[in-house]
Amino acid sequence: MLKKCLFPVAGYGTRFLPATKAMPKEMLPILDKPLIQYGVEEAADAGLSNICFVTGRGKRAIEDHFDVSFELESSIAGTGKEEALQGIRGLIDQCSFSYTRQRQMLGLGHAILTGKRIVGDEPFGVILADDLCLTSEDEQGVMGQMAALYEQYGCSIVAIEEVPADQVHRYGVIAGEPITKDLLKVTDMVEKPEPEHAPSNLAIIGRYILTPDIFDILQGIPAGRNGEVQITDALLQQAQQGKVLAYKFRGRRIDCGSVEGFVEATNYCFQRMG
Ligand code: UTP
Repeated sequence: MLKKCLFPVAGYGTRFLPATKAMPKEMLPILDKPLIQYGVEEAADAGLSNICFVTGRGKRAIEDHFDVSFELESSIAGTGKEEALQGIRGLIDQCSFSYTRQRQMLGLGHAILTGKRIVGDEPFGVILADDLCLTSEDEQGVMGQMAALYEQYGCSIVAIEEVPADQVHRYGVIAGEPITKDLLKVTDMVEKPEPEHAPSNLAIIGRYILTPDIFDILQGIPAGRNGEVQITDALLQQAQQGKVLAYKFRGRRIDCGSVEGFVEATNYCFQRMG
């Protein structure tokens, strides 16, 4: 059974400067809730209640968010405002939180490898909280959908979605053989391809389930573009052994790491509310 979920939150969030100069982009709120809380809720709903953060400099607000705030809580105790903290309090009670620091920003693959010391030798989920995944009330969250598949197949799984050809250069892109209508066995993967070199328009989004052998693979991978260690390169090695599935999830994903996506998510959630 999957128990742990890794949140790499060490990135600089340069697309959102100056807002992210002193504040983690994962603390940007969609309505009244920070992105990271949406992600942790999704993990907890999937039964992954050991939350592991790979943080970096300037990310202290995330640790504070998942802790009690005595002064604030006692000052609003007994007032109507207390209600607003119910959700986060419940999450804090339900989950455990571990932190480790990525000292140099050497890419997502390197951030995941840094998480090894808190994840240990077991399979784990990965959520990139700036990819907000929303599902309808009666639907499982995306990590929950993937955890159910993991129970069945027991191998690494990436969440994918179709993107327009002119967007493939922003993503890891897969090629695969269909297993069911929403599941493929990955045969190839390319990180940020030009449209003419993309093996398909199926892009990997910020949800993964990884088996722990990924750590050894990551350790042996040389840094690629911009000195970064790419998770796609490590997953390709697993895929070559036939051990990676790609899953077309049910739900809506919005990239909130860009101003455009952030505004879209805000409007979408506001409309859903009313
Ligand atoms: P992004 O590619 O979105 O990078 O990273 P970023 O730095 O967060 O944002 P931009 O592009 O500069 O605006 C994808 C995920 O990987 C994490 C980020 O925190 C984000 O969740 N990451 C990336 C790390 O934890 N460490 C890294 O070295 C790189």
